[in-house]
Amino acid sequence: MATHSYSLLPSSSSSSIHGQNHQRLNFSSYIAKGVLPAKVSFHSRRNYHLNVVLMQDVIAGAVATPATPVENEAPFKKLRDGILSSVPSTQEFKEAASFDVSKDESTVSITVVGASGDLAKKKIFPALFALYYEGCLPKHFTIFGYARSKMTDAELRNMVSKTLACRIDKRENCGEKIDQFLKRCFYHSGQYDSQENFAELDKKLKEHEGGRVSNRLFYLSIPPNIFIDAVKCTSSSASSGIGWTRVIVEKPFGRDSDSSAALTKALKQYLEEDQIFRIDHYLGKELVENLSVLRFSNLIFEPLWSRQYIRNVQLIFSEDFGTEGRGGYFDNYGILRDIMQNHLLQILALFAMETPVSLDAEDIRNEKVKVLRSMRPLQLEDVVVGQYKSHTKGGVTYPAYIDDNTVPKGSLTPTFAAAALFIDNARWDGVPFLMKAGKALHKKRAEIRVQFRHVPGNLYNQNFETDLDQATNELIIRVQPDEAIDLKINNKVPGLGMRLDHSNLNLHYAARYSKEIPDAYERLLLDAIEGERRLFIRSDELDAAWALFTPVLKELEEKNIIPEYYPYGSRGPVGAHYLAARYNVRWGDLGI
Ligand code: BG6
Repeated sequence: MATHSYSLLPSSSSSSIHGQNHQRLNFSSYIAKGVLPAKVSFHSRRNYHLNVVLMQDVIAGAVATPATPVENEAPFKKLRDGILSSVPSTQEFKEAASFDVSKDESTVSITVVGASGDLAKKKIFPALFALYYEGCLPKHFTIFGYARSKMTDAELRNMVSKTLACRIDKRENCGEKIDQFLKRCFYHSGQYDSQENFAELDKKLKEHEGGRVSNRLFYLSIPPNIFIDAVKCTSSSASSGIGWTRVIVEKPFGRDSDSSAALTKALKQYLEEDQIFRIDHYLGKELVENLSVLRFSNLIFEPLWSRQYIRNVQLIFSEDFGTEGRGGYFDNYGILRDIMQNHLLQILALFAMETPVSLDAEDIRNEKVKVLRSMRPLQLEDVVVGQYKSHTKGGVTYPAYIDDNTVPKGSLTPTFAAAALFIDNARWDGVPFLMKAGKALHKKRAEIRVQFRHVPGNLYNQNFETDLDQATNELIIRVQPDEAIDLKINNKVPGLGMRLDHSNLNLHYAARYSKEIPDAYERLLLDAIEGERRLFIRSDELDAAWALFTPVLKELEEKNIIPEYYPYGSRGPVGAHYLAARYNVRWGDLGI
């Protein structure tokens, strides 16, 4: 009989889950008494309520037979149209049935496919380490790197260790923790389309899983052209026999509606929708996650969240560096696909959706889809495109986009775009949602700006001189850097006169919260391990997002629209100002 403690919380977390205080429960005594089936798994933070209900049912005797693992969705590859023939064999069923209950703690194997790539090195391994450091990974876990390059486990560890300069690297015991973490990392070299190589990986995974319920997470950090092959091999040769199998996929999810639909169709030959975790890392950013909290838990915001009080909403992304070596990938996509159609549109959907029925993933995603489907497809006249050109400043010459060796000569691919979008529903009718995204601009930042309407019959109008726009309230949600929420208000300058001043109510995260902000990938990886889908994109969301951008992307390409050139490090093309002006808007980031 199992005597393990089933922790509802990561070992280092506080007892507060989503603002509610819960007691850490120790299930071992219930298991020992035979009240709770040994196979039940309680690793989820967010499935806490479900687990507690199940627990209560079990204790109350409502569950007479042993429960199956709570998170055991889609454990086996499905048989569809004869494509998959890998339902578990009788032998596998026997293996599953003959579990030694004393070993019955599940294990998670995380395989980073494309382990030698940039994303894996810079983001995925450091995020996994941070989760390990924080005690958020389950007791039994193994990490495998998989890529074509020949590498030993030691070489992988060496490679990974160089990039573990994570946000917690200065804390105590970090070196020791890194060593412990690296001992759990292994490598397998193989082709992305080789069933044989994936079968070898499967064998190694099984050795590490040691007969426990084995849950497997595959992170596909590979180029889109080898995606499907890798999914096919993962699914048919390396998915878990008993336990769940999940696959995280990174954008690009196609280039337009048709290619995205084809990709979804191909993925679904091998995986169920609930096994596919389409990542948009902006959804893992703290301030994006906070959007719903801000709206739905503060009475002062939600009533104002409509066309009645909001003049316009601006979603701004800028980077102060160019494509620098990523031109090969970027040129095939451009800024509209790279940033707008996903990162900014996802933020818009969260910002503008109606109140979901609950915080459950499906309820939230239903609302996001609804708002995306209420939007008008983007029109060519509502888009301005730009491309950065070389610029010399302070004796330094910054390259043009087309100076990047990986970019085809004469490329017209936009590195900047501004767009005006509209949501044709009762809440947002007529409110311009302006997006702006660009590379090689003067600043790195991502923010949401909400400009409110003028105060009707304002008693103090004469104090604002002629520019009433300056006097409107503005809510600024700075996603990065220096995460903050600022509310611009009007205030009386202290003194005997009556002079008004535009001031800010500030919530600067660095000043308010002592804890470092986790990287977006940490949150998303943890969610994927826990089966929490709220921050991942469902296929119908993806379809709706592409439907908005595909016509204009086609038109831009077919008409060979020449981008407006802007100097590297500048504020971008002037066209963006004309576009905003057409809708009586001034970009808030450039100062009113
Ligand atoms: C990626 C884009 O999705 O996001 C990159 O492909 C971009 O072009 C990056 O640089 C920005 O992410 P972050 O988290 O650094 O703002």
